[in-house]
Amino acid sequence: MVMNVWMRSEMPSNWDTGTSTPRKCTAIKLKQEKPSTNQVEYHILLDQDKLLSWIRDKEMFLTACSPLAKGHLAYHPLLQEIGRKHGKNATQVALRWLIQQNQVATVPKASTHEKRRQNFAIFDFELDQEDLETIARLDKDQRFVDLPGMAPDWD
Ligand SMILES: NC(=O)c1ccc[n+]([C@@H]2O[C@H](COP(=O)([O-])OP(=O)(O)OC[C@H]3O[C@@H](n4cnc5c(N)ncnc54)[C@H](OP(=O)(O)O)[C@@H]3O)[C@@H](O)[C@H]2O)c1
Repeated sequence: MVMNVWMRSEMPSNWDTGTSTPRKCTAIKLKQEKPSTNQVEYHILLDQDKLLSWIRDKEMFLTACSPLAKGHLAYHPLLQEIGRKHGKNATQVALRWLIQQNQVATVPKASTHEKRRQNFAIFDFELDQEDLETIARLDKDQRFVDLPGMAPDWD
C-alpha cells in the first residue's frame, strides 16, 4: 500500500504536558500553527490520562506509538479472551481500544503483509462497556520505549 500524506503542521513526538518541562508548552505557545499531534508511547499497559486531557484541551491528537507494547500484547491472554467474543485477535483488540478513544490515532509496526492486514481490520467491531472496564482494571505503569537522554520527566 502507498500512502501520500501532505503534512500541514508539525508533528512532534515525546512531549509531556509541560508540567515537568515548561519549555515544551512554551514551544507550542510560540508557534503560529499548533502541532496536529503528539506521538508518544500509549497502550493498554500505560496510563496517559493526564497527557491525553492536555492534548484534547489543545484540540490536538495523540498518536500512540508502540501501541502493541513492542509486541508484548500480541498474545495477551485477557485481550485474546475479549477478542474471542468479537471474532478478533489480541492485537486487534489492543488497537481498537486506542482508536475508539477521542483524538487518538496509532502507528503499529508489523513485518508481514498478513499482520498489517489484521491490524487494519479494526473498524468493523466495537469494544463494549464490559470490555473497556476489564481493560481499565489492568495495571498501567509499563513503559517499553527507552529514550536515554531524550525523554522528558513523564507526567
Ligand atoms: N516517537 C517515538 O519515540 C517512537 C518510539 C517507538 C516507536 N515509535 C513508532 O511506533 C511504531 C510502532 O512501534 P514499535 O515498533 O515500537 O512497537 P509496536 O507496534 O507496539 O509492536 C511491534 C511488534 O508487534 C508485532 N506485531 C504487529 N502486528 C502484529 C500482529 N498482527 N500479530 C502479531 N504480532 C504483531 C510485530 O511483530 P513482527 O515484527 O514480527 O511483525 C512487532 O514485534 C514504529 O513504527 C515507530 O515509528 C515511535
